[in-house]
Amino acid sequence: MSTPNQIESPLRYPGSKATFLNVVLRFIETHNLHEKEIVEPYAGSGIVSLSLVSAGIIKKAILIERDPLIYAFWKSVFEHTDTLSSLIEKVNVNTDTWHQLKNYLQYDHPNDLYIPDLALACLFLNRTNFSGILHSGPIGGRDQSSKYKIDCRFNKEAIISRIQKISLLRHSVSVVFGDALQYLHASSAENSGNRFFYVDPPYFKQGRKLYRYNYKIVDHKRLADILRNANFPWILSYDKHEYIELLYDNFIRTHQSFRYTTKIPKNENELVITNMRTPLSGKENQLTTFISKANLSNFLNASE
Ligand SMILES: C[S@@+](CC[C@H](N)C(=O)[O-])C[C@H]1O[C@@H](n2cnc3c(N)ncnc32)[C@H](O)[C@@H]1O
Repeated sequence: MSTPNQIESPLRYPGSKATFLNVVLRFIETHNLHEKEIVEPYAGSGIVSLSLVSAGIIKKAILIERDPLIYAFWKSVFEHTDTLSSLIEKVNVNTDTWHQLKNYLQYDHPNDLYIPDLALACLFLNRTNFSGILHSGPIGGRDQSSKYKIDCRFNKEAIISRIQKISLLRHSVSVVFGDALQYLHASSAENSGNRFFYVDPPYFKQGRKLYRYNYKIVDHKRLADILRNANFPWILSYDKHEYIELLYDNFIRTHQSFRYTTKIPKNENELVITNMRTPLSGKENQLTTFISKANLSNFLNASE
């Protein structure tokens, strides 16, 4: 099966795994998972799941996200499409709005009454901040003295068109607000036979810089404990670190080289780990490249 086109995401996403699409596709084919639902417990841009559903390779995706703004964004894309589109159309892309919408960062839980407003805040901060990081500063600086200004990545028409296109997948995608560890733990307890999991947790080294919700060592360990006992197929991606290699010592691991959409980190070596018996590629624990050069350059051109 050829690699599906990745969807064009309305979000600029730090650490987005667009290139990982090929790896997950190979995983699906090797283990014949086409009829199963894909679960992404750390959704972010959800680009892998959404692209697989959009290409008809997988019928249903479940996205779980702990950041209330990111959750609200995806919830709104599917359930409040027109309200969100009209908020985007009307918003003034300037530093006054930036200061105003930054206040939504204080919410730790999404309030049902404000879902489209939280979604707008997510999209606005994502597209006006450095590297798409929700808790960083605005492009151009607070005094807008640099060459690039706050609105340089905010093409309203293109963003709305991407949202409208993705919203057509609404009957195939569920968006859940919550904690991945809880969800994974509960999934292990119940019969998750019709699902497989693509697990992409906050990075071990750069997590704090990139995401508002990130992991301490104890959380990384807890994830490994849950996955070790999981009764469903999973594929996990991580930044390469000895500690993580140690945590997953007994599992099949490969290394993958990625370029990220943000400046931090760049060209990192990534670990790919799975609980499925058959190796991901012909050879276990060796550097594998499922990404063709053409796909990689498509991705680099498409990013941001
Ligand atoms: C490495 S990123 C995922 C990137 C995603 N795979 C993509 O392609 O865009 C990790 C995501 O996990 C989210 N996150 C952090 N802590 C979480 C938690 N406890 N439960 C669920 N999601 C969490 C972060 O907000 C971030 O969006």
